[in-house]
Amino acid sequence: MIARGAGKRTPKVAVQFVTDKTHLHVVTSRQKTMLSTLEYQSGFGNEFATEAVRGALPVGQNSPRQAPLGLYTEQLSGSPFTAPRGQNRRTWTYRIRPSVTHRPFAEARQTLLLGGPFSGVPTSPNQLRWSPFEIPAAPTDFVDGLITIAGNGDPAAQGGVAIHIYAANRSMQGRYFYIADGEVLIVPQQGALRIATELGVLDAAPGEIAVVPRGIKFRVDLAEDTARGYVCENYGLPFRLPELGPIGANGLANPRDFQAPVAAYEDLDGDYRILAKFLGRLWEAEIDHSPLDVVAWHGNYTPYKYDLARFNCINTVSFDHPDPSIYTVLTSPTAIAGTANCDFAIFPPRWMVAEHTFRPPWFHRNLMNEFMGLIRGAYDAKAEGFLPGGASLHNCMSGHGPDAETFERASMAELKPQYLGDGLAFMFETRLVLRPTRYAMETRVLQHEYFECWQGLKKRFRGNE
Ligand SMILES: [Fe+2]
Repeated sequence: MIARGAGKRTPKVAVQFVTDKTHLHVVTSRQKTMLSTLEYQSGFGNEFATEAVRGALPVGQNSPRQAPLGLYTEQLSGSPFTAPRGQNRRTWTYRIRPSVTHRPFAEARQTLLLGGPFSGVPTSPNQLRWSPFEIPAAPTDFVDGLITIAGNGDPAAQGGVAIHIYAANRSMQGRYFYIADGEVLIVPQQGALRIATELGVLDAAPGEIAVVPRGIKFRVDLAEDTARGYVCENYGLPFRLPELGPIGANGLANPRDFQAPVAAYEDLDGDYRILAKFLGRLWEAEIDHSPLDVVAWHGNYTPYKYDLARFNCINTVSFDHPDPSIYTVLTSPTAIAGTANCDFAIFPPRWMVAEHTFRPPWFHRNLMNEFMGLIRGAYDAKAEGFLPGGASLHNCMSGHGPDAETFERASMAELKPQYLGDGLAFMFETRLVLRPTRYAMETRVLQHEYFECWQGLKKRFRGNE
């Protein structure tokens, strides 16, 4: 069955998505539940082809003299034209109006969403930890609910990252958002999101992630009353799957478990706004229609989602444990081999079986810089204080590791097979020092007493007894 567009509607009443499937997906601003299961296409970076109306996708060429059904042709390139095939990203879209049809941008009200360079406050070498970030009481949508916690690099140089928290209590209404500074990796911690993009619709619940590439417009609807989570805005090369080396052809995050949307469009005329994050600042333009008007597309530059429960976790079956790079889901490389602009790693439910081994993470100091968050449960290096919705930051060469209580317990533990089934933690690990923002250093959820968790680690040296 082919469903037609919703025609002229006011955005605050209803938004209708149309796909080439029998499902009709409807989300209204008053309706806080997901109404149907969405359709997806399987694979990471695949060459997808999808049309919401049969015949909308040209056959055999990209830019015919007249595109089918009176649509406009527009190419969206996420890499230089001449990038090697393996890294080349572009998508051809067939849309009701070209993207250029909006009024001029003007500076919008600036929020706590920031961009690099991050020089607001001096960066100390102290270990930092935050209690769960608060969900606002005032009406706040996804964009207004973005607060920058730390970052490095500079979007103008297309290197570095910004790490944001989002906390929202309502869907975006009549507003669409795109980020020219980088792609966004969204890690929901509380409350599912429905992310409507130019290329189709994604659901992302806690335990899943969603990635929206640089420049693709989207709107975030809340499935529940509130939503909170983490965002890595990646200024560098797009996230890709890590190399597997001796692991072989399978393992960690497998390509087929990544899901791209099918084409879905809004045919809506009305009074809308496009918000753009451009060089760290928010800009706003009026537009007289929904920009999510792509009826068909083909290409490999797409949003995608991934269920972290699909991660094939690898670890020791003998003794010690490998470096935490074995937990890498996605990586944004740099030109220096093995030196990531950003790695996204997770610490999912898994068995611990190592013999004669201290099983939690060891004490360590790193060149790389580690921002961690907790989606649910607990993390095996900390007895308390690291909570779902909170975060920690351990920067270059700052010592860290298990707290005193965890060290004591793990040093004496009986080493039988143990299932760590409770927790789901993650890390954004970056090459450059992560510089906290003024908000991050002044918020009342900053744990000034964090250092105390290691003060119980007393001298145990017994000399040559
Ligand atoms: Fe660490």
